[in-house]
Amino acid sequence: MINVAILGPGGIADDQHAPAVAGHAKTRLWSVLSRSSERGHQFATKHQLASPFPVHQSLDSLLKDPNLHAVIIATPDRLHAEQVIACARAKKHILLEKPMATSLEECDQMTGALRENKVVLALAYHLRWHAGHRKVASMIQAGHVGQLRHIRVHWTFAAPNDSNWRSTPESGRWWSLAANGTHCLDLVRWMMIPTEGEISDVKCVVSRSKFNSPHDESAIVALQFESGATAEICVSVQFASESRVEIYGDSGSIRMEGTMGRHGKGQIYHASGLQAPTVVQFEPTNPFLGELNNFVNAIETGQEPEVGPLEGRRNVECLLQAIKASGADHY
Ligand SMILES: NC(=O)c1ccc[n+]([C@@H]2O[C@H](COP(=O)([O-])OP(=O)(O)OC[C@H]3O[C@@H](n4cnc5c(N)ncnc54)[C@H](OP(=O)(O)O)[C@@H]3O)[C@@H](O)[C@H]2O)c1
Repeated sequence: MINVAILGPGGIADDQHAPAVAGHAKTRLWSVLSRSSERGHQFATKHQLASPFPVHQSLDSLLKDPNLHAVIIATPDRLHAEQVIACARAKKHILLEKPMATSLEECDQMTGALRENKVVLALAYHLRWHAGHRKVASMIQAGHVGQLRHIRVHWTFAAPNDSNWRSTPESGRWWSLAANGTHCLDLVRWMMIPTEGEISDVKCVVSRSKFNSPHDESAIVALQFESGATAEICVSVQFASESRVEIYGDSGSIRMEGTMGRHGKGQIYHASGLQAPTVVQFEPTNPFLGELNNFVNAIETGQEPEVGPLEGRRNVECLLQAIKASGADHY
C-alpha cells in the first residue's frame, strides 16, 4: 500500500485528489500539511487519514515519517519548487499540480533533485486522462482528420473577485494562463507534437481590464509548430462560457464541447471533410483516478509517467514565452 500525504488541503485536494487516493486499491490517504492545525484536522477527519499523527504544520515534520511513501502537492504555484526539492531529498514520490513551477531555473533545480534522489515526479494534467480526449488523441494518430493543420481551444470561467492567490505575485505568476491556459497548452502539445514537431513561435495578447490585476485575466495565445501547423488558445477568468476544442486536419475535423473541466464528460463530434458530424462515443471515467493510476504505475515499474519533469518544464517555458510576447511581463 502506498501511503500518500496531501500538501495543501484546498480546493482541488479536497474535491478530487483525496477521493481519488481513497478510491484507488493501491493507495491510502496518510497525512496532510496545512498552515492551520484546525484546517488540517478537519481535512484529516473528513478524509479519514490513516497515520496515527496525520496533521503537520511543517513540511520537515511531515517528511520525517518513514511510513510516508508519496505526496500530492496541491499548493500555490510559487511554492511548488521548494516543496518538490524537499520531498525529493526525503525520497518521497511526487504527484505535482500544474504548472510545474514559475520559472525555468526552478524547473532545473527540481529536476536535479529528482534525478539525484531517484524519485518519480508526475505532473497532474488530468485532462490527458479524460476518456474522450484519449479517444481523440488515438483518432488523430490513426489519421481520422488527415494531416493536422490547426487546433483551437476556448476555456473560461468567471472569477467572483480578485482574491484568488493566482492574482498576486507572491503566490502565483499567471492567472488565466495558470488556471486554465497550462491545461490547454498541454492538450495542444499532446495532440500536435507527435506529428507536427515542437512549438516554434508563440504570440500572445492579455487583458487585465476587469479586476486590474497585476496578472493576466484573459490570454489569447497563438502558437506555430515546426511543421507550420498552428494553434490558438483563449482562456479567461473574466467571463463564463462552455469550453470548446476544435481540431482541423486535411481530411476532417473534431469538435469537443464541455470536455474541459474536472468531470470527465462532454460531447465530441467528428466530421469527414464538410460532411455532417457524427457523435464520438466514449464512456466517461474519473480523470483524477486515471492520473493517479499512472503515477502509481510509474512508482511500481520505473516507467516514465505520462507527463514528467521534461514536459512540465516545456509547458512552463511556453507560459513564460506567452507572457513575454504579450509585453505584460512586468512581474
Ligand atoms: N488540475 C486541476 O484542474 C486544478 C484545479 C485547481 C487547482 N489546481 C492546482 O492545484 C494547486 C492548488 O490550487 P487550489 O485551487 O486547490 O488552491 P486552494 O484552494 O487555494 O488550495 C491551496 C492550499 O494550499 C495551502 N497553502 C499553503 N500556502 C499557501 C499560501 N501562501 N496561499 C494560499 N494557500 C496556501 C492552503 O492550505 P492551508 O491554508 O490549509 O495551508 C490552501 O488550502 C495549484 O497548483 C493549482 O494550479 C489544479
